[in-house]
Amino acid sequence: MRIIVCPDYNAMSRQAANVIAAQVIMKPDCVLGLATGSTPVGAYQQLAKWQQQGDVTFKDVRTVNLDEYRGLPGTHDQSYRYFMNTNLFDHIDIDKANTYVPNGMAEDVDAECAAYDERIQEFGGIDLQLLGIGHDGHIGFNEPADHFSCGTNCVELTDMTIDANARFFANRDDVPRQALTMGMQAIMQAKAVLMVVSGADKAEIIRKSFCGPITPEVPASILQLHPNVTLVGDEAALAGLKEEGLV
Ligand code: PGA
Repeated sequence: MRIIVCPDYNAMSRQAANVIAAQVIMKPDCVLGLATGSTPVGAYQQLAKWQQQGDVTFKDVRTVNLDEYRGLPGTHDQSYRYFMNTNLFDHIDIDKANTYVPNGMAEDVDAECAAYDERIQEFGGIDLQLLGIGHDGHIGFNEPADHFSCGTNCVELTDMTIDANARFFANRDDVPRQALTMGMQAIMQAKAVLMVVSGADKAEIIRKSFCGPITPEVPASILQLHPNVTLVGDEAALAGLKEEGLV
């Protein structure tokens, strides 16, 4: 695993954007696995700036997002489709027809999940998967469980995740209880993984994920088995790894 310690959020965002831009420069028609959440926003802003300056182009890039709330249409301002459009896709030269987010409104959830995995397979898998991490160690919406998920699936969100995401909704009751999420297989089969993390509140889960046992109780711990992980974080988030002597 490559660990890049950055002094603060802005430096972390710039560093993460560099890794993504390098992937797109190396393979202009690459498949990017993308993530929502507050952490990647700065990296998306940086990428949009570089694209607008002509330093990188996304015209042949395809993207697959990790997850989507069940029951929210893409026009809902808390849907992850809306997040991706407003935080990245509206500001870069990507063809939106080449951007994929699970359909949270699908009536047949199982068919939607199966089709999502088939599409990723048809693309030849993901070249670079961007990940955030939840306080409970979730990646995508793969929550702590007694086994690792495999394919894209519909999950019940944990109370911790509902609490964490309630800040984006008018009240906690409005937070959807279910989500569609890419499973561990597509994530682990990605050729490269880039995790971004910021803030002291993530230090303990980062320590558990990368220094503790590999267990579905800490979903991100599966990344210890991935051969090509880059972890980009600010000093506060990586403090636990420093104590363990990893950085
Ligand atoms: P955050 O979310 O970036 O808003 O902390 C990360 C996640 O839950 O995956």
